[in-house]
Amino acid sequence: MPSSYIEVRVLCPVGWHEVVADVLAIGPCTSVVLGRPNLGVDPAPDGFDWVRTFFPSDEDTRALREGIANGLASVAESTGVDELAGLEATFHELPAEDWATSWKKSWKPFRVGNLAVVTRDWNRAPKPDDVRLVLEPGGAFGTGRHATTRTILALLQERDVAGARVLDAGTGTGILSVAAARLGAANCLGFDIDPRSAIEGNDLARTNGVAERCTFRIGDFGVLDERDTAFDVVLANIYSDVVQAFATDLAARLGPTGWFAFSGCPDRHREPTLAAIEAAGLHVEEVRQRGRWLTFVGRHAG
Ligand SMILES: C[S@@+](CC[C@H](N)C(=O)[O-])C[C@H]1O[C@@H](n2cnc3c(N)ncnc32)[C@H](O)[C@@H]1O
Repeated sequence: MPSSYIEVRVLCPVGWHEVVADVLAIGPCTSVVLGRPNLGVDPAPDGFDWVRTFFPSDEDTRALREGIANGLASVAESTGVDELAGLEATFHELPAEDWATSWKKSWKPFRVGNLAVVTRDWNRAPKPDDVRLVLEPGGAFGTGRHATTRTILALLQERDVAGARVLDAGTGTGILSVAAARLGAANCLGFDIDPRSAIEGNDLARTNGVAERCTFRIGDFGVLDERDTAFDVVLANIYSDVVQAFATDLAARLGPTGWFAFSGCPDRHREPTLAAIEAAGLHVEEVRQRGRWLTFVGRHAG
């Protein structure tokens, strides 16, 4: 379904991209990108570069714009760097495009371990041990290329998920649930506040022949009930502030011998996120880093 998006642009002093990107990494904004929007836009002045993100036009609220403005306004104080004073976002309506298919322009099939993430029309001969995952994402987060998603796709293969019950918080397109089911999980429950997520998750599960083992719900932790407990695997590739806020809820859903992987944490939020996970009674066995992104992996403490 074609829909329109708003582009958020911030002119940022070179070397401070990550700090600005963190401010923009809030729902419902999608990925943060660096660089000039297009050739029709003047290049950034010397010593500056563009940091941009996007959100759907129907999520354009005064609160969101103020949230971004306030986040940018606090950067100078939180970093103690004067040149970051006066950061401003501008908002630009993008022409409507068919976002359900436009992702294909830059997306290429890829492999994580034995998992070959491919499009429906990919017709290269599979390798003998290939587990194929056919991806056709629409607007929800999760084309599989993000460092955090790939880290969890690798973990699902390193730690056995055969026969497991899997909880997938912030499921996006459902990629982690469907991958787990393709790798042998008995059933997977994904949930996400993005209303497109359940539709896309169900489509992805059907496309990959695992619909009867995957369930998707729309909403946050409130969509879980008392039966949704003792999971063998709890995944949360979600923003680090959400992991911190809901660490206790995540821990409560993990079975006594199960393992968890919580991702989506930028390196600079390591300490408070680790502290919240441990305060929830979980033991972090491993912190895996890919680029600036961390994934915390572990089990119940004790
Ligand atoms: C970084 S994306 C990950 C998507 C997918 N799991 C993947 O690995 O590609 C994080 C997802 O968490 C969802 N999300 C954010 N806060 C949430 C909350 N409180 N409850 C449920 N989902 C949430 C967002 O809508 C988004 O789809």
